[in-house]
Amino acid sequence: MLVDLHNHILPGLDDGPDTELEALLLIQNAVHNGVTHIVATPHHRNGVFNQDINEIKDSIHTLNLLLQEREILVTILPGMEVRLHADLLDELASTTLTIAGSHKYVLIEFPTHHIPQFTESIFYEMQLKGYIPVIAHAEKNEEIRRHPKKLFNLVTKGALVQVTAASVTGANGKDLQRFVLKLCQHNIVHFIASDAHGVHIRPFLIKQAYQVIEHKLGKNFVNYFQQNANHVLNGVEFQVFQPALIGKI
Ligand SMILES: [Fe+2]
Repeated sequence: MLVDLHNHILPGLDDGPDTELEALLLIQNAVHNGVTHIVATPHHRNGVFNQDINEIKDSIHTLNLLLQEREILVTILPGMEVRLHADLLDELASTTLTIAGSHKYVLIEFPTHHIPQFTESIFYEMQLKGYIPVIAHAEKNEEIRRHPKKLFNLVTKGALVQVTAASVTGANGKDLQRFVLKLCQHNIVHFIASDAHGVHIRPFLIKQAYQVIEHKLGKNFVNYFQQNANHVLNGVEFQVFQPALIGKI
């Protein structure tokens, strides 16, 4: 079982594939990476895209039927990549999809340049309601890159962190690769995911990312990241490695 928790594979819903055919090609790319379960996470509330839960579920249902017909052995599950916004708490139970319908894990995207002031209080309130925030592609946030300790602080307060496979492989640049590996070494990362958007521009790269993790950090980290994703898919809580304080990188 190999789970990808963050990607944009649903046709026509966001900046992922435009057509069903493009979506199928991207899913084939996931299968070639060994992925067996894909949690589809279209952008939501990011200022450009707003999703309707039922539309996401219908799209996934259609794709799963197509995959069965073609005997492609992969399962698509529902999710969203939700931009952190002030009304998130009110919308969690109504218009927001949790990861794989877990009613626990929520994939949350920060703005590119900063960590919003209200992040800590919203994360706290979320956890009181039984939700666990998963910070999407944490390495892409400028404030986190300048002050990784701020990410460490959020992790010590219960947030989980996903980084992008392409950042692990070096496809997003050597600096970002170095940064992400440091975060991993400090136990501030919990998941590797593709954030795939298309076969040509942003493909899955999951297999290659895990090869780099194994080579640089060891098989133990590969198992850890993969098992963490399995637990999220199953909606169960799990033990994380103790995060280590991190300074400037
Ligand atoms: Fe994404």
